[in-house]
Amino acid sequence: MRIAIAGASGTVGRHAVRAATERGHEVVALTRASGVNVLDTSAVRVALDGVDAVVDVLNIMTPSARKATGFFTAATMSLLDAGAQAGVRHHVALSIVGIDRAPHGYYAAKLAQEQAVAAGSVLWTVQRATQFHDFAALMYGILHAGPFRFAPRGRVRPVDTGELGEYLVVLAEGEPQGIAPDFAGPREESLARMVQDYARAQGYRRKVPEISVPGALGRAQRDGSLLPRPGAVLAERTFDEWLEKR
Ligand SMILES: NC(=O)c1ccc[n+]([C@@H]2O[C@H](COP(=O)([O-])OP(=O)(O)OC[C@H]3O[C@@H](n4cnc5c(N)ncnc54)[C@H](OP(=O)(O)O)[C@@H]3O)[C@@H](O)[C@H]2O)c1
Repeated sequence: MRIAIAGASGTVGRHAVRAATERGHEVVALTRASGVNVLDTSAVRVALDGVDAVVDVLNIMTPSARKATGFFTAATMSLLDAGAQAGVRHHVALSIVGIDRAPHGYYAAKLAQEQAVAAGSVLWTVQRATQFHDFAALMYGILHAGPFRFAPRGRVRPVDTGELGEYLVVLAEGEPQGIAPDFAGPREESLARMVQDYARAQGYRRKVPEISVPGALGRAQRDGSLLPRPGAVLAERTFDEWLEKR
């Protein structure tokens, strides 16, 4: 098959590229660095020539919910419009477990993306996944004041991006499913403990105190809203295995 991966150089995207190549597919990378801005529908249309399936693992890093919603909606509509013109048979979009229970901020943007996917004219699968193991690194990088680092309280079931990238390619090979069962890691972890362990592995020697992140998103993180529903597909690699490998 010819599979286009939108966000091919990202945390998940590079694993999807590797998996697709290993599984014998021809990969078309859609990233700005490779010369295709997904917001430019004509450029996407040209890039999707002969493509059977699109895997969307795009991302935007912004604290603005409005900006994130604008990006995910416009990028999705562009991929779907160009995809319909090019005869793409399956659009697979990566989303996040629990966003319907916590439709705030960045998660509201991901919900808007899901709605745009469902409204488009290419048959689709939305795969919701739990937080990545790398989420610990992200939180470690964000939550600091001067030399002090903080560990946010939260209930998560983190997943390995290598396993997720491969799973998305397997989905793209198959039939469109609409909203697929959640994809999650093998066990629930304390987000604070993950960040503390990550800090130690980075050589950080001070204590990393736990904090409760204020606001609706912080609450959702703590109250279990972001845990998978029963019937989720479970990956195998644990956070400890991921950390050891790094
Ligand atoms: N972090 C988590 O725990 C988590 C959990 C579940 C789901 N997710 C979802 O997973 C998805 C992927 O996240 P990630 O962390 O793997 O992403 P990432 O590492 O931030 O990578 C983003 C990718 O998008 C590309 N991109 C951005 N803007 C573009 C544009 N206008 N045109 C073309 N390409 C563009 C980037 O390449 P260029 O910069 O070269 O354009 C890059 O390849 C996100 O949608 C996120 O919501 C995340």
